[in-house]
Parts: sequence; C-alpha cells; structure tokens
Amino acid sequence: MAKQKIALLTGGGDAPGLNAVIYAITRSCLNTLDCELIGYKFGYRGLYLNDYIPLTRETTTGILHKGGTMLYASNKDNLFDYLVEENGVMVKRDLSHVAINNMKKEGVDVLVVLGGDGTLTSARDFARKGVKVIGVPKTIDNDLASTDQTFGFDSAVNIVTENLGRLHTTTESHYRVMVVEVMGRSAGWIALHSGIAGSADVILIPEIPYSLDKVVDKIKERDERGKYFTIIVVTEGATEKGGDAVVGKVVSDSPDPIRFGGIAAKIAHDLEGKVEHEIRSCALGHIQRGGDTSAFDRILSVRYGVHAAQLIKEEKWGNMVCMRGSQMSYDSLENVIGSKSKLVDPAGELVQAAKLLGISFGD
Ligand code: F6P
Repeated sequence: MAKQKIALLTGGGDAPGLNAVIYAITRSCLNTLDCELIGYKFGYRGLYLNDYIPLTRETTTGILHKGGTMLYASNKDNLFDYLVEENGVMVKRDLSHVAINNMKKEGVDVLVVLGGDGTLTSARDFARKGVKVIGVPKTIDNDLASTDQTFGFDSAVNIVTENLGRLHTTTESHYRVMVVEVMGRSAGWIALHSGIAGSADVILIPEIPYSLDKVVDKIKERDERGKYFTIIVVTEGATEKGGDAVVGKVVSDSPDPIRFGGIAAKIAHDLEGKVEHEIRSCALGHIQRGGDTSAFDRILSVRYGVHAAQLIKEEKWGNMVCMRGSQMSYDSLENVIGSKSKLVDPAGELVQAAKLLGISFGD
C-alpha cells in the first residue's frame, strides 16, 4: 500500500505553540504511521499555489520551543472567497477546486489545518467537499468556546505579566498613570489573567464596559493611600459605557477585517486633567505573540499535536482537536464552527477574586 501523505498548514495570525504542534504531529505520525508529510506555506495561499516544503525529522528539528510558525501564516486567503484579478478588476471567486486539484496532483490524502475561526471555517468547507480534514484550534485570545484552552494564551499572559513588571518600576518612579493595551479582540482573558498576575490596579475588559469616573475614583483612592501611581490594563476591544470599540485598522481583504487598537491612547487622553498625574499609554501589540513559547504552551501544543495524529490514525475525518477540562478530546468541525466566542463572565470567580483584591474594573 502506498504511503499516506499528510499535509499541514497554519492559517490566521500566528500563536506561540504552532511550531510545537507541527513538531508533535510530524514526529508522532512518522513514528506510528507509514506516511510522509508536507507543509503548505502561508496558509491556504500555499495550497492554492501548491507551494510546500517537506516535513521530516530533519526539517522540523529544533522548532518545538520557538514562537511563530515555520510554515508562515496568512489571514487573508479564504479560497472559497478568494480575491483575484480579472481584466484589471479585483473580484472574489470560489477557487477551492484549485486547492483540491493540487492535493490530488500531489497525492495528499489528509489535510491538517491549524487555525482560528476563519481558517477552521474553510477547513469545514473543505471537509464538506470530501477532503479528509483534521482541525487544530489556535488563538492567543483563548476565546474559542469549542475548546477550554488554546495554546499561545499562556505565552501571551506571561509576556504581558513580565512587561507589567517593567512598566511598574518606571511608572512608580514618575508618579504616573500608565494605560497598557493588550490583545484579545472582544475577550478580556489576556487582560484579566495578566492584570491579576502583574498586579494591575485597574483591569478594563470588553465584557464590562467602563465608566471613566470610576477609573478616576480608583486613581484618587490610591493617591489618598500614598500610592502615587496606577497601572491600568485594557483589552484592545474594551469600551466605555455607551461607547464603541476603537478601531485601529481595517484589513479589507481579511475575512475578519477589523483590528482594534488605540483604546489605551484614548483613555490616557480622556484622563488628562482629571487626575494630578502625568499619563502615558503603551500598546504591547505583537510583542505578545513573539519570542519563545512558554513551557505550559509547549506541553499543551504537544498534546494537541499528538491527539491530531491519533485522529488521523483512527480516520476521524472532519473533526477538530479540543480540550475538555484537562483531557484532550475532539468535536466535529460542523459543531464547532459558528459557536459563540468564549467571553469572561463578569460574575465569574476570577473577576470576583480580582475585585476582592481591590482591583477596579471601572464598573
Ligand atoms: O486573534 C489574535 C490576535 O492577536 C488578536 O488578539 C489581535 O486583535 C489580532 O490577532 C491582531 O491581528 P494582526 O496580526 O492581523 O494584526
């Protein structure tokens, strides 16, 4: 019987842990199946252009700890709605058949897709067209309802926590207020976890719209206690009560075009004159996705990867690996796509614990 050919791709924004998943899938497939593996470059674009590299023990050596993705990633290339030029005009076309033909031509039997919402929606659509697909979810935002924890989140929380420590010393030295913007889109997980771990005084998350007056109250309360500095952590998608999220950029050819950005600068501006401090803002941005993967995420990613290989072995096509409690499991892509985002519960245990510590949520 011919060797099974397994192709991997990484779509959407990168997340620490992707390389560890690639490593784990490659190693465990090579060790348990009669197979060869390839990796399409730049997500679905590589599938469209038939641009790939071999995934072997040699090409994947030394990648487990590294952030980013050795396969590169793109969050723009939805092949079911692909932007192409026709007679000098850009139009959107369903070019999924090109990808399917490329896989047939290369003898690819299985497609393993590592990605977030958008990437996995296409994975489901390829499964509907008869492709043997396995999905692996990723996002640093940890906002996928279909899995209890995504890799990349712990790394991002560690990076933010470390940077809050750095910002503490300079903020305190100048008696300032520092507003620190973190990622997470419309989910406050990164702000909540890093804010607690990094001893923030105020945590502002999209799930709890804030009142500027309450933030001012907190700064003044600290002043009265002789704590002449305040650290505010804010999720990029947070909103003031009755206000809108601040859009930093629109990536028009992305399936999810809105990029939040600028809320920290807005809060710093709005606080001006309301407190007796100099105010600064700092957006941590893509630093949160860079560098090495945390030890926790390396282990989690290995578990995701090994479980994906297990699903391949058991021929459980059309499924996505997920984590339920502390166990690795799987669910059908049909079920998981379109499920609502997992958001912070304002009445939940962690928010209440933070409040008991004296952290303000601006509510
Ligand atoms: O979803 C992950 C994420 O890092 C968000 O937290 C952030 O809003 C977005 O991606 C940034 O995307 P990009 O890499 O396109 O700027």
